[in-house]
Amino acid sequence: MLRNSKIGIIGLGYVGLPLAVEFAKQYKVFGYDINSRRIDQLKEGLDHTMEISEKKLNAVITLECTTPKGLYCTSEIEKLRACSIYIVTVPTPVDKNNRPDLSPLINASLLIGKILKKGDIVIYESTVYPGVTEDECVPVLEKTSKLRYNIDFFAGYSPERINPGDKLHTVANIRKITSGSNAKTAEIVDALYSSVISAGTFKADSIKVAEAAKVIENAQRDINIAFVNELAMIFNKLGIDTHKVLEAAGTKWNFLNFRPGLVGGHCIGVDPYYLAQKAQEVGYHPEIILAGRRINDSMGAYVADQFIKKMICKGTSLTTARVLVLGFTFKENCPDVRNTRVIDIVRRLEEYKVKVHIHDPWANADQAKRAYGILCENGESKKRKYDGVLLAVAHEEFKTMDIKALCKPDAVMYDLKAFLPDSVVNARL
Ligand SMILES: NC(=O)c1ccc[n+]([C@@H]2O[C@H](COP(=O)([O-])OP(=O)(O)OC[C@H]3O[C@@H](n4cnc5c(N)ncnc54)[C@H](O)[C@@H]3O)[C@@H](O)[C@H]2O)c1
Repeated sequence: MLRNSKIGIIGLGYVGLPLAVEFAKQYKVFGYDINSRRIDQLKEGLDHTMEISEKKLNAVITLECTTPKGLYCTSEIEKLRACSIYIVTVPTPVDKNNRPDLSPLINASLLIGKILKKGDIVIYESTVYPGVTEDECVPVLEKTSKLRYNIDFFAGYSPERINPGDKLHTVANIRKITSGSNAKTAEIVDALYSSVISAGTFKADSIKVAEAAKVIENAQRDINIAFVNELAMIFNKLGIDTHKVLEAAGTKWNFLNFRPGLVGGHCIGVDPYYLAQKAQEVGYHPEIILAGRRINDSMGAYVADQFIKKMICKGTSLTTARVLVLGFTFKENCPDVRNTRVIDIVRRLEEYKVKVHIHDPWANADQAKRAYGILCENGESKKRKYDGVLLAVAHEEFKTMDIKALCKPDAVMYDLKAFLPDSVVNARL
């Protein structure tokens, strides 16, 4: 019976598209996005997030909505009426005060509410704090559809665990948490994901448990990175190489393998604020979670200050200095510049009046220009000589790049990621 279900996926971004492609191998999937340009590109086999190759996309895309399986993309919500299962994969950002912005989730729920029928199931995948599905989204579905929750329609929550740019851990081979609004729905949701996730599923006790499990995965990672960032700041003062310390400590079986650096992107730097907000709402002021956020958010400025200190020590005049930042994306080997913290380095360097150039072979240059007003000038940047080069992102291409050829004789070569050999680098985080 499940096999004949039509699945509607709302939001075809980094999470929604790979999921839609996976389901479309076996089911009829209707992919919906409010961004009609995205829909047009997908129909032509083009995924700007670079998660799905043209070949893989073209293997499932259908231009007809009547085929028995495959992915039909549209920006008309009415076309999704035939679906009985809806999966919501829209963004969950924070506002300028780091408060959760649930408007994409509420808007998606309003849209689904218009076409919801008796017996339908709405599964949320976006990362949220515990309670968002049932306390924020379900009431919108009820109000818009005039249907009753857990009588006429049902809900589920199944968080996504993929990692942009990671070609090893992909949707189908990461174990997936599932949950449902009652026992029967939990079974259906679990069976649905089990049918496409080869790594298997884990049926959580409730929707709130599943929501909480996801948000703490990312908060835990954030806190662990904050700890090693704090260590890096201590060891810098002591004149000890942090990476060498971590390498030595890592020989113990239960020492956790985290590296210092920037924490950006759509998830780890954002999700802890979701948990913190909920904690505060119920009268608990989170100490560790917010301390971790503060440390990680300050790292860009810290790195820039360290870099500038090294340049001053070498006698470089800052007002005439030219600096090259290698990498602008929020992580290596992916084009995503959303919430990249490299921008904090750039802004801080600009405060010192040095001339900053940015080279990134991966970054979506249009997005970088639109969102931050910065120029990723890939070809041009290789033609100059710099007083300092700062490697901010460990893109594979930088390993084979002749960085020394870009440096003036006394230049600072700072490696934030401990990615390059000691022979190239003269400063690290
Ligand atoms: N990016 C990741 O690797 C990742 C991993 C795990 C979880 N998540 C979570 O998954 C969710 C989605 O993240 P993403 O990275 O895919 O975001 P994204 O920005 O790449 O994609 C979201 C898509 O939703 C569309 N959209 C926005 N509002 C909409 C609406 N009301 N109706 C329909 N479409 C709408 C956007 O146009 C966009 O194409 C977030 O909650 C995120 O925290 C992301």
